[in-house]
Amino acid sequence: MDRSSAAAHSAHALADLGVCESPAMADVLRLARRAAPGDAKVLVTGESGVGKDLVARVLHAESSRSRGPFVAVNCAGLTESLLESELFGHVKGSFTGAYRDKVGKLQLADHGTLFLDEVGEMSLRMQALLLRFLEQGELQRVGAQERAHHVDVRIVAATNRNLAERVAAGQFREDLLYRLRVIHLHVPPLRERRADIRPLVAHFANRRGNGKQFTETSLELLERYRWPGNVRELQNIIEHAIWQAETDQIGPESLPPSVRSTEPLVPVRERRRQIADELYDGLVSGVCSFWQDVHGLFLRRDITRNDVRTLVRKGLRATRGSYRGLMPLFGMDPQDYQRFHNFLAAHDCKVDYREYRTGEAEDEPRRRELLPELELRERRAQAASTSASTLH
Ligand SMILES: Nc1ncnc2c1ncn2[C@@H]1O[C@H](COP(=O)(O)OP(=O)(O)OP(=O)(O)O)[C@@H](O)[C@H]1O
Ligand SMILES: [Mg+2]
Repeated sequence: MDRSSAAAHSAHALADLGVCESPAMADVLRLARRAAPGDAKVLVTGESGVGKDLVARVLHAESSRSRGPFVAVNCAGLTESLLESELFGHVKGSFTGAYRDKVGKLQLADHGTLFLDEVGEMSLRMQALLLRFLEQGELQRVGAQERAHHVDVRIVAATNRNLAERVAAGQFREDLLYRLRVIHLHVPPLRERRADIRPLVAHFANRRGNGKQFTETSLELLERYRWPGNVRELQNIIEHAIWQAETDQIGPESLPPSVRSTEPLVPVRERRRQIADELYDGLVSGVCSFWQDVHGLFLRRDITRNDVRTLVRKGLRATRGSYRGLMPLFGMDPQDYQRFHNFLAAHDCKVDYREYRTGEAEDEPRRRELLPELELRERRAQAASTSASTLH
């Protein structure tokens, strides 16, 4: 199956579960789908509310274990001893309050998937117990005398913590991290995949099924907000707004002040477009150089990374998604390609080229050299030496 039909298939498989319109989310789901059939353990990371549960469910639903159980355990919600008996089970009388035998979640998940949510919150002792289970695949109930028995479970874990940092702080076992993170899927925050916002709004509004719709102004406000609580926050705000609105058209007055008070969209967009347009015209006409002007402005913080992204988008539109094509267009030497990439990656200015792949190239994507070649070369050499000293 080629890349686009695989992505379409995973999007389709996901349709019941959730929205994945943005290239970033489609990528996560493509990887999840590729990881699903095996038994390799998967660690799903991402901020709170991004959809980690959803990804775990996809991993299960798309696996050969999909007829088996999907069992979730939240490692943050329980004390250490309760978590131990929740996972491993216990025998009656093994501790105060153990009035009857209890089957652990690991056993309940036999032939299925065990989802260990918030795994970063486990105590060190629980981590050791889990590690022992992962190494031996054998289960011993708390207080049991019988021999441990084998269970066949696939483990998917999730966390919103930076586990590498917790390892460095001595709060998480490095050997356990490696065991759990055979495959790593990171779900990006909603603010980095704004293309999902409108479809998510529609998705949550449709679920209510009362025909109410958000006005264009409301949608623009929703698109612009930072969403610290990600999809969960969006869902809550949409449900609240639908409940509160008295008409079928839901205007900004039904949105919370935090969403309403984000800077007005039009001026921000206008300003960004203006700067990007001016820089683009300067670059394409040969009046300015990328390293000297754009890079310099960025390092002095006269322009933001969003301005750079808008500029790159404009360029990609002209080159139909070719980053290499930006070299001549922006007046850079072909050998600057890696440096250009490093610069964009280091400052989070990379733009997904794929959405520009299908579009028609604009007229005249070629750079018009207006500056004498010699002067340009001098400016580039000078820019290269300045930026080499500032970047490294
Ligand atoms: N792509 C999506 N489409 C539809 N609904 C989504 C999507 N992503 C998340 N949701 C919904 O948003 C809510 C939060 O998602 P989820 O519980 O998967 O987040 P999480 O990353 O596990 O959060 P936490 O770290 O707090 O556990 C859920 O109600 C979920 O159904
Ligand atoms: Mg969760």
